[in-house]
Amino acid sequence: MCGIFAYLNYMVPVKRQQILDILIGGLQRLEYRGYDSAGLAIDGGQGECQDNILIIKQKGKVAALQQEILEQKDIDKETPLLCHAGISHTRWATHGEPSPRNSHPHRSDDNNEFVVIHNGIITNYKDIKLFLEKKGYKFESESDTESIAKLIKHLHSCHKNNGVTFQKLVAETIQQLEGSFALVFKSTHYPGELVATRRGGPLLVGVRSKVQLATNAFPIIVSGASGHLLETHRHDSLLPTLVDGTYPDGKTVHPLMKQLSSDCTDGSDAMEYFFSSDASAVIEHTKQVIYLEDEDVAAVCNGKLNIHRATLDDSNVRELITVKMELEQIMKGNYSTFMQKEIFEQPESLVNTMRGRLNYEKGSVVLGGLKDHMGEIRRCRRLIMIACGTSFNSAVATRQIMEELTELPVMVELSSDFLDRRTPIFRDDVCFFISQSGETADTLMALKYCKEKGALNVGITNVVGSTISRETHCGVHVNAGPEIGVASTKAYTSQIATLIMFALTLCEDRISMTDRRKEIMRGLHELPEKIEKVLLLDERIKEIAEELIHERSLLVMGRGYNFSTCIEGALKIKELSYMHSEGILCGELKHGPLAMLDPGMKVLMVCTKDRVYSKVLSGIQQVIARQGRPIVICNPDDNNVHDMAYKVIEVPQTVDCIQAILTVIPLQLLSFHLATKKGLNVDMPRNLAKSVTVE
Ligand code: UD1
Ligand code: M6R
Repeated sequence: MCGIFAYLNYMVPVKRQQILDILIGGLQRLEYRGYDSAGLAIDGGQGECQDNILIIKQKGKVAALQQEILEQKDIDKETPLLCHAGISHTRWATHGEPSPRNSHPHRSDDNNEFVVIHNGIITNYKDIKLFLEKKGYKFESESDTESIAKLIKHLHSCHKNNGVTFQKLVAETIQQLEGSFALVFKSTHYPGELVATRRGGPLLVGVRSKVQLATNAFPIIVSGASGHLLETHRHDSLLPTLVDGTYPDGKTVHPLMKQLSSDCTDGSDAMEYFFSSDASAVIEHTKQVIYLEDEDVAAVCNGKLNIHRATLDDSNVRELITVKMELEQIMKGNYSTFMQKEIFEQPESLVNTMRGRLNYEKGSVVLGGLKDHMGEIRRCRRLIMIACGTSFNSAVATRQIMEELTELPVMVELSSDFLDRRTPIFRDDVCFFISQSGETADTLMALKYCKEKGALNVGITNVVGSTISRETHCGVHVNAGPEIGVASTKAYTSQIATLIMFALTLCEDRISMTDRRKEIMRGLHELPEKIEKVLLLDERIKEIAEELIHERSLLVMGRGYNFSTCIEGALKIKELSYMHSEGILCGELKHGPLAMLDPGMKVLMVCTKDRVYSKVLSGIQQVIARQGRPIVICNPDDNNVHDMAYKVIEVPQTVDCIQAILTVIPLQLLSFHLATKKGLNVDMPRNLAKSVTVE
């Protein structure tokens, strides 16, 4: 999905070439999110001349934008600039095809007076566009974002040079916007300044200073109630209110705002700011970040960062926090792709998921993020797990063990369908929102819905500081480490382990479950070394991929705990190799899917030694009875399977509810090899994005 990266240096001399390198570097870190064009805006002109803005945009990869920059011969790339603000963006097409014209930054006019980058969707852009067209504004793209650039120019002109601040203009602009957004603005009227704001889309500010900042808490400046500046959301009201320039100032400084937060202890003014939708683009420059909240307007003017809001929210301040992510975590290392690296990281990522939580020796599980809410969770009437895609599959993988250990009704819901049905939710429900990114639009909307209904909302997220992590009452970070490949792999196995640990915490006082708990804890404890064994199958799976590459369709069959592996494996195969693939519950074979079997057709099956083992064996029989050729993922030395299977992939046996973690890995590897052999982009499959921030 779209990515935002902006860089501002103040009293730090930086050459234009370095600024371009920093912006391009930021965009490269965001590439994994999925995009189809890229662009940036810097101060143009020669030397210190900053009175015009240069916009460079290109369709395709960031490398194409880099090439375009190389071809710009008439900009001075060598003179150091003491203060400069640059913005850049990767776009994932929603309104209008991928093209330089539709890419960001979008501009207000031919002179580039205001330029803006945007993640999200403006739902009322057509109304704004119509209003502005009537005022004579000419639009040049099909993008919803362009209406923002033109709207801010319009509002600026309404102020008639009365010294309105950039921050105030942005605050006025967003009052007119409906939909979701994260925005960063730059303007020739406000050289060396940047203003950023969000509603629904993630946005953070990285801060770098050579000296210690006076405080880690940035006070919020309350700039007057919303509606103060503009009476209503109707666009007709824009003009009368604004032309007169008769705004009540409305600016009140919050009592806590004793000193400007960016004042430095030794009086040095040198500061650098990095705005991004994603911490991974910022960490190589600074680990000190502020996560902005919805409706925050963060403005850097004269090197000082201030955060404004129309009204105060739950907190008076925004904390400057230290992100723990390390650069090595987001580098490919010796692997060919991020996905491959992430598959092979699973022994380690699972250790990190369980670290400090599962104490095998003591037989205890403590989830720090939930311990204050356990009483409420224990009293609940049902558990509902809500998610999309792979995260949904992790809910399917753990529903059975949740039901068994909690003895509560457990529902699993696809976020979009959950919302479509307006599913009844009650105050005594506990709703789990499972999301690797913590930013998925449908899951976020489901969270909002459940909040309104008064349920207890629990997040299971991988990204610390993500919207779901912050908007839920409590939750667990799965701690799988940054996942860059669009296909979710290590986050999935960590989600399963986390949900199993949750089920274990809920039954810790049940004597009758002592042995079962011990067995599961042992299984979790032994998991990393068993995953190492599964990963040794890589070469064998590569050969199987060679054989399957020309198949018309890949059916993946199983039941019980392994059903999740079937649907997740099929999702991986579809997503990466673009082959048709379907996860099928063996119990359903006779109810339709058997008709698809042709003689000689290869079918993937999962059959491990658990409670439904004999039923899956009978499924294998049904397949071979129709001359199908099953490739079976099974436990070692399983003669029953060996006798019937066309090929076997042997994974170590473990406790039933954990087995799905081991059976899914061969399918992750298979999808990786299928895509690689087809020469496809493994990390960024076509039409997909890492973080799906629109409906
Ligand atoms: C926390 C620390 C971890 C430290 C450990 C030991 C963080 C992010 N984690 O881990 O570095 O080693 O204590 O003291 O600082 N939360 C939500 N929604 C979510 C996810 C989490 O509200 O979707 C909340 C939790 O309720 C909790 C906080 O975020 O208040 C941190 O959660 P988590 O990282 O899972 O907690 P710990 O495992 O205790
Ligand atoms: O970030 P989330 O876990 O909320 O994302 C949900 C899905 O978009 C995601 O799992 C998607 O299905 C993956 N690309 C699958 O590999």
